[in-house]
Amino acid sequence: MSQVDNYQGPTGNLPDGHGRAPERFENPGLPAHKPRLGDVDPKVDKRRQRIVLALFGVSTLGTIGFLVAYFALPTGRDVATIHRSNLWLGLGLAASLLGIGLAAIQWAKSIMNNEEKVEERHPMASRPEVREAAVRNLAEGAKDSGISRRGLLKSAVVGSLALFPLTIAVPLIGEIGGDWNVGKLKHTMWKKGLRLTIDPSGRPIKASDVTIGSVFHVIPDGLDKTPDPLEEKAKAVVLVVRLDPQVVKSEQIPGASYQGIFAFSKICTHVGCPVALYEQQTHHLLCPCHQSTFDVADGARVIFGPAKRPLPQLPITVDDQGYLVAQSDFTQPVGPSFWERLR
Ligand code: FES
Repeated sequence: MSQVDNYQGPTGNLPDGHGRAPERFENPGLPAHKPRLGDVDPKVDKRRQRIVLALFGVSTLGTIGFLVAYFALPTGRDVATIHRSNLWLGLGLAASLLGIGLAAIQWAKSIMNNEEKVEERHPMASRPEVREAAVRNLAEGAKDSGISRRGLLKSAVVGSLALFPLTIAVPLIGEIGGDWNVGKLKHTMWKKGLRLTIDPSGRPIKASDVTIGSVFHVIPDGLDKTPDPLEEKAKAVVLVVRLDPQVVKSEQIPGASYQGIFAFSKICTHVGCPVALYEQQTHHLLCPCHQSTFDVADGARVIFGPAKRPLPQLPITVDDQGYLVAQSDFTQPVGPSFWERLR
């Protein structure tokens, strides 16, 4: 006997006695169907059909127009001829596609049957005997494997499965290991007094060089003398911008900017693409990968996109010669938010 045979729906419907589920169920509460004007008035129905026909006609004419423009219009290298040809090709294509689209919508809305249909589901849970059979099968499988009689084997299986997650967890949360130690991403080479230099020239940058609206891609001084300059650069690169103090809404770290000059990590907090586009008028930094947008005037807060936290700010000041220097390393991990949760 099938599951369908056993089914008695919530509305009390019973199978029709021939081993098949009933074709129609009682209405579970939908409002009564109201026929449209076109369903009861043949004239209205005809008019609606004519509209659909006309829209398909528009599409056909558009296609013909496109072909005519393609084959008949003169071609040339001068801009006016190219523009004229493109215009007619575009209009033909637009009419062709628009006609089909509108005709399909009109057809679906006014001609197709719009009566709601109810199809009830059979119970999703397995029958008790099926569940009991599944448990029996599992017990038999365990018995066949011999694990219940071999305690040592059982311990080995449990132990290895329990320990395996450590191969993932230890590198993620540990501060040990070389290339596998992701904890090192929590720190960069920025430190107190280290000068900000322009990427790629390496020229130290003065506060007076950074005018309002300008943006500089900046790396730490002495980067090229580190054992792994590429890796250090990937973590430490920052963007430096200067804002009119009037437009600053909030600061991520009080006292971390210098006279309207802000330094933010260039590594997107979504999945780590370089945030490279600065909109001078809106003070927004845009990540080209998935369009996360950060408001520099509001502590680099995320205002759009999948990033979950602001770009970390590098605290800066100037030295006695007016060069921009770091006050310290970043106060939070750079890059994807994932690292933030591991702190
Ligand atoms: S990496 Fe920047 S939005 Fe995805």
